Amino acid sequence: MKKAFLLILAIAFAACSDEDAVPEYRADADQYLIPKVQHFESRSGAAFIWKAKTRIQADSNCLAEAQYLQDLIKQHSTFEPEIHASKGEVQLVISDEMEGPEEAYTLEIEAAKIVLKGKTKAGLMRAIQSLRQLMVDAFHDADKREAWALPTLYIADAPRFKHRGLLLDVCRHYFDKDVVKKYIDLLALYKMNVLHLHLTEDQGWRFESEAFPKLHQEAAYRREEDGSRYGGYFSKQDLRELVAFAEARHITIIPELELPGHSQAALSAYPQFSCLGADANIEVANDWGVFKEIYCAGNDSSFLFLESILEELMEIFPSEYIHIGGDEAPKFRWEHCAKCQKRMADEGLANEHELQSYFIKRIESYLNSKGRKLIGWDEILEGGLSPNATVQSWRGMEGGIAAARSQHQAIMSPTSHCYLDYGLHQIDLKKVYSFDPIPAELSEQEQKFIIGGECNMWTEHVPNEANLDSKVNPRMQALAEVLWTYPQKRDFRDFFQRMQKHYPMLESLGVAYGPEMIPAEIYADVNFDSAEVFIGSKTNFEAIDQEVYWNEKKGPWGFVLKESGTLKVQALKNEQPYGDTIEQEFEFHKALARKPQYQSEYSQWYTGGGAAALVNGRLGSLNFRDGQWQGFSGQDIELWLDLGELKEINSVSSNFYHYNNAWIFVPRSYKVYASQDGKSWRLIGESQAQIQAKQRGQHIEHLEVKSKTQTRFIKLVVESQGRVPDWHEAAGAEAWLFMDEIIVQ
Ligand code: ACM
Ligand code: ZN
Repeated sequence: MKKAFLLILAIAFAACSDEDAVPEYRADADQYLIPKVQHFESRSGAAFIWKAKTRIQADSNCLAEAQYLQDLIKQHSTFEPEIHASKGEVQLVISDEMEGPEEAYTLEIEAAKIVLKGKTKAGLMRAIQSLRQLMVDAFHDADKREAWALPTLYIADAPRFKHRGLLLDVCRHYFDKDVVKKYIDLLALYKMNVLHLHLTEDQGWRFESEAFPKLHQEAAYRREEDGSRYGGYFSKQDLRELVAFAEARHITIIPELELPGHSQAALSAYPQFSCLGADANIEVANDWGVFKEIYCAGNDSSFLFLESILEELMEIFPSEYIHIGGDEAPKFRWEHCAKCQKRMADEGLANEHELQSYFIKRIESYLNSKGRKLIGWDEILEGGLSPNATVQSWRGMEGGIAAARSQHQAIMSPTSHCYLDYGLHQIDLKKVYSFDPIPAELSEQEQKFIIGGECNMWTEHVPNEANLDSKVNPRMQALAEVLWTYPQKRDFRDFFQRMQKHYPMLESLGVAYGPEMIPAEIYADVNFDSAEVFIGSKTNFEAIDQEVYWNEKKGPWGFVLKESGTLKVQALKNEQPYGDTIEQEFEFHKALARKPQYQSEYSQWYTGGGAAALVNGRLGSLNFRDGQWQGFSGQDIELWLDLGELKEINSVSSNFYHYNNAWIFVPRSYKVYASQDGKSWRLIGESQAQIQAKQRGQHIEHLEVKSKTQTRFIKLVVESQGRVPDWHEAAGAEAWLFMDEIIVQ
């Protein structure tokens, strides 16, 4: 009989239990601004009251920004502020003699007037967004309200980096114009300035082309496993609307056209640009991964095709930069294509990496001839970097470092901190916030080439808008602060508290933000001396005010494991469920906390927690990275343990993980030996896996040896596949063997 325990961790935040009535205005204004501003002064005296008659004063050089502010007020109130050239209580000014970068601004609020001053129009827009954040929650509601008060203050602010972006992949899953607008507006609100729009992929092409209409008519749709058709695309009109919407907020949309790889969708519609030629039968990809169909580098018409598409894109997107991808292009087709091989011979290229470099350089010179600049993923460094290219570093920081050292601009978006498709286990809010785009090893001179960073939102596992919202928010806000505010001014705890105050506004904007972190974890402390396992749960909220309760009893919580069962933990925040319910299955058995003596070594990458992993009662889940699986690379497992005294046992069993995509295979055999003295051993049984090495997917196989035996010592010999089999793409590599527990009943 398995028991279920339910533990509730209630986490109360001092700062957000806002029991007072909503204040008339935000007296502690700096507590509401994200990103944190560079310079803030609270001014004494009465608040500014925005009344029905309050006017906006703006010169002709910032009329568009004045209209933006007017719209904002109209949208959220019953007011329709007049815009006037020489009179007005809310004054918009462009002041090009202001110190600092382009987006520098000041915001001054006095009882009788507000002055928003930007070094440029973009700076002015950032000032308006600060003002927007200072409006009380009720202002942001959909209902139109009356009378706004704003605290008197002075802000002088400017960004640390000039490139502050979000990548949105609208290909793996399609997000329509309205969702993209919502994100452009969020970028503006948090003073980001780039939407990197990933428009082409193996799984779908996402914009209209006049020159090659099959791209939007056919390549925009894929056939799903269940036979349904999935897809969509932006018409030119949609894209123009997005560009205008972004321009009004001084956000640049940088379109990404992937080449030479991630292009299977395009090649399904126009196979003549693949290495296989016009008759090739290529489909829009309907699963995730990296695909070998890429543009043929030996075929001049591939380049003409891409140039024609780029021309259509440049007609719509005025951005100085065009992103051309360049990542993850398998060279298999090029290696086997006569045209590609001829190109290499003709151009004196030593290998396919140099052919990729040739490809990118050719595209770059085309873009440069049109007055545009190229950005590519860090693979564009391989085989030689194009002369003026900017590198977006994603496989760590190294690509950005190499670019900066060769005096090329770099944008940092390493998988370690900036991949918002990763779960909170890997990248939580604190992790994003800890990011520094400037690598310590660069000289002061080289550091200048790091122009900023991006958070990357790939959408393989993001099927809908609610998912998207919960992955992006609030981690994007953390990156916004990292990229805007200097490290000396940043403090996670302070940011966290400000973020709590932004949630009502995000709710008003229809943003289904997600949790900041995995709130709690289950632990199992193994005591080898007493042969007991103590299990319990603790929160992960080190940085934040917190209280932990269980059954209304406050404090740390746990118990000695005495029976098998499943422990479930649900964290609460402000009395609402927070994060997913965490579940852990425990097995109570005779080998608990009996120290295994290893004759083979487990991998440092998959320790399962170390020497206690196999005797802590915790069973592994279908996520092989859950920390419960102990991995052995390319070798058998051999170990023994002492039960402490002669005992009668009925069975010995273990779970094994199988997932051949990740080179993890069930064992060939599972042998159990018994001994009274730990010296002479007797085989008591053997078991074989039912799962075949070729079996796809993720599986757990339970292998068991049943035998009623009197024994003190138990030995396991688990035979590994050793090497990845010949039929596998990684043939010959060391095969993994993953085990979670030695269960002795
Ligand atoms: C990437 O994540 N493949 C750039
Ligand atoms: Zn080719």
